[in-house]
Amino acid sequence: MKSLSQEINIIKEELITAIASVTNETSLEAVRIAFLGRKGKIVDLMEQLKSLPVEEKKIIGPLLNLLKTEIQEKLDTREILLKKEVVAKRNLLQKNFDVSAYKHNELKGTSHIYTQIIADLEDVFISMGYDIADGPEVENEYYNFESLNIPADHPARDAEDSFFLEKKGMLLRTQCSNIQARAMEKSQPPIAIFSPGRVYRQEATDQTHDFLFTQAEILLVDKNISVSNLLATAHTFLRKIFNNESLEIRVRPGFFPFVEPGLEIDASCPFCISGCSVCKHTRWIELLGTGMVHPNVLRSSGIDPIIYSGFAFGMGIERIAMIKYGINDIRLFHSSKIKFLNQFS
Ligand code: PHE
Repeated sequence: MKSLSQEINIIKEELITAIASVTNETSLEAVRIAFLGRKGKIVDLMEQLKSLPVEEKKIIGPLLNLLKTEIQEKLDTREILLKKEVVAKRNLLQKNFDVSAYKHNELKGTSHIYTQIIADLEDVFISMGYDIADGPEVENEYYNFESLNIPADHPARDAEDSFFLEKKGMLLRTQCSNIQARAMEKSQPPIAIFSPGRVYRQEATDQTHDFLFTQAEILLVDKNISVSNLLATAHTFLRKIFNNESLEIRVRPGFFPFVEPGLEIDASCPFCISGCSVCKHTRWIELLGTGMVHPNVLRSSGIDPIIYSGFAFGMGIERIAMIKYGINDIRLFHSSKIKFLNQFS
């Protein structure tokens, strides 16, 4: 059996090795517990001391106390050093901190779904030789109504249906056709324009109606323009927009004061062959108001209806987006809800 003084020496050696392997406060604490803890090596030796003869106790006792102090000091010194190392490491990191290396989680902006659909439509119409036209959202009654053959007793002209402004005769446009009226007045045919824009109608909002929405209108006026040109144009751009070459169209009579005859065009449901929830199991989706420009409209813009004819289309951008992407509430479009908008990035 080793003598206690031999064990003291072994413990000193062990302590040196243990302290050398300390890398952080946790491992230092583990060493402290192993040597000075309640079940540590020193307590163990103290226990052994109890069974020694008095003479030996007198010699070994002070040696043990000395060992305890020595261990304490060594651990304290290591602790101070460790703290210094931590500070030095932090300082080094700060000194070498590369701001350009910091990559935060950036919020990426994307174009609004309106913008995307309008851009797709613009691509189609530009490729067919159309110009993009713009016009005022604050409009006068002449361009919003009169020039478009909408008589004074038309319900749209009721103060209940449109947002009239304080300045007499001015309102927020109720349709983009004001752009067409202005374009026809400015130049003689051929006129081919695509005009997207916001429109305003005073009505209660629900899932499919809003007081503010986005329309796109198309106008073509030239010699010999007929319903077959209208149908071919509708067919072409609807196929493109819904990315569906086998999409069919169907035509129904419709009424709009500025066209004669007035038509409504439905597209075959791009999502099914035998009926689904999008087409409400009818296989057809109502999409466009259209017709041949009324002779009165041409005349009031200074275009001779004997020489020229034309067609016009109107469509709701939100409606197209709702069908294309399965959106069930029109009010989401200008809700600024990031979760909604991010889906179209
Ligand atoms: N301007 C019409 C509307 O807002 C749509 C339309 C345009 C209909 C052109 C026919 C021709 O309802």
